Amino acid sequence: MSESVEIFEVGPRDGLQNEKRDIPVAEKIALIDRLTDAGFRRIEVASFVSPRWVPQMAGSGEVLAGIRRSSDVRYAALTPNMRGYEDALTAKADEIAIFASASEGFSKANINASVAESIERFTPIIEAARHIDMPVRGYISCVTECPFDGPTDPDAVAALADRLFSMGCYEISLGDTIGQATPDSIARMLLAVRERVPVTRLAGHYHDTAGRAIDNIDASLSLGVRVFDAAVGGLGGCPYAPGAAGNVATEAVHEHLTRLGYETGLKGDVLTDAAAMARAMRG
Ligand code: HMG
Ligand code: MG
Repeated sequence: MSESVEIFEVGPRDGLQNEKRDIPVAEKIALIDRLTDAGFRRIEVASFVSPRWVPQMAGSGEVLAGIRRSSDVRYAALTPNMRGYEDALTAKADEIAIFASASEGFSKANINASVAESIERFTPIIEAARHIDMPVRGYISCVTECPFDGPTDPDAVAALADRLFSMGCYEISLGDTIGQATPDSIARMLLAVRERVPVTRLAGHYHDTAGRAIDNIDASLSLGVRVFDAAVGGLGGCPYAPGAAGNVATEAVHEHLTRLGYETGLKGDVLTDAAAMARAMRG
């Protein structure tokens, strides 16, 4: 039997948060329902952040209320603070994610907090989630490069990954937020992080600004990473990271992994259909 690699679909959140067009909730729901049919086990569909900061995610509660849920899928939401956590609970998200940065410049620009302050904000969220067995994923942004601070020290990423993992995040998603990583810089970062957190608890989250995301996935596969975030149709970017293009396209990752002999568990024809829907939603 071939080895499995999981694609964690982030298009409805990381993708749509950055699209220029004001996308109606009904269109988001239709896309997520199609993604459910494609066979994902985890789909990030919502973000309970300030609507002043990210207007596209304002309808997140309605999105979670409107989707057709499969018991095989966990529907995830970003939560930057306790208010976001409570909103995610009310909306019945199946798992939540906190998001930190390995660099101070991006931390300030994205969540208006230093890295240390952000950890203080996340601590009560993770504690509250533990009481109800709610899985918490931890993102780290700018793992090789920050648009404000320049190159990131792999040891800073490793220390933060260790911290988030020890606090209770079940998986650490390592973000090349502005898509400037190379296979070499990804490998240096992963070698450092792998020393502190089991590689089975790491995910690669690569934006495709420079067209190197697939090469960076290859470098990560060779170091043992078996979970990759991707956005159907290559949607999106990050509104607080100048120059961030979309996440690597899910359908491209699926095709690439399949060619390499990995099993993604996804239905290619449904994915093609969902990718066409996603592209039609763009501004
Ligand atoms: P702030 O301005 O420092 O905080 O924002 P505040 O407490 O002063 O709140 C500002 C306003 O937001 C207030 O409303 C609050 O009530 C409201 P106002 O009085 O101005 O009308 N507010 C909220 N509203 C709804 N839900 C909430 C919430 N909290 C406060 N949860 C804050 C701090 C964290 C809120 C803000 O900076 C924020 O929302 N940032 C989110 C930025 C974001 O979503 N970025 C994109 C996601 S991260 C990403 O894409 C990277 C990733 O993909 C990985 C990678 O690629 O690297 C994950
Ligand atoms: Mg991202």
